[in-house]
Amino acid sequence: MNSLIIAIWLMLPAYLPNNFAALLGGGTPLDLGRKLGDGRRILGDGKTFRGTIAGTLAGVAMGLLLHAVAKSKPELGLPDFGTGGELLSVLFGLSLGAMAGDIVASFFKRRMGMERGAALFLVDQLDFVFGSWALAFILAPRWFSENFTPEIMVIVLIVTPVLHRVTNVLGYKIKAKKEPW
Ligand code: CTP
Ligand code: MG
Repeated sequence: MNSLIIAIWLMLPAYLPNNFAALLGGGTPLDLGRKLGDGRRILGDGKTFRGTIAGTLAGVAMGLLLHAVAKSKPELGLPDFGTGGELLSVLFGLSLGAMAGDIVASFFKRRMGMERGAALFLVDQLDFVFGSWALAFILAPRWFSENFTPEIMVIVLIVTPVLHRVTNVLGYKIKAKKEPW
């Protein structure tokens, strides 16, 4: 199977959470409205309990679906998401890790004095990639190193900003997102 397809396939459980958070987010913010000593919000109203939970579950559900396809159609040559107990570690790693990467980025955006929704080039496009890799590596190191080879990682770093841009412009057009980034 083509490396580009494998890269996107492996990242789908990390790509979906942000989109579902944008669609279903809202309500109580994760920082409960609290500010730090700099007078700015810890995270801001753009990071909510509902969005984080819905996004994480969407990523895990997507991963379970992809895993079932990979297992039932081995002739496709698409990778699965781990064996036995590893499966949930991998999927929560990729999905919750993606949400966490985006949350950590918002923390630093607020510290830099950027309002909610302000664009930060490359950080907005890649924060969730590093978050998903970090948590998946911590929770399932064997699966991670076997599947995220240097080649696959380079492909992910190149195609993700492009895919991110396209989906966010679409999200903006359908009014799921306030800004096209
Ligand atoms: N969202 C959420 N919970 C999250 C992540 C996102 O509810 N953990 C929802 C919010 O409604 C948010 C939207 O998805 O406004 C778009 O996400 P994002 O672009 O990450 O947030 P921004 O509003 O741009 O805020 P920030 O400046 O902190 O990135
Ligand atoms: Mg944003």
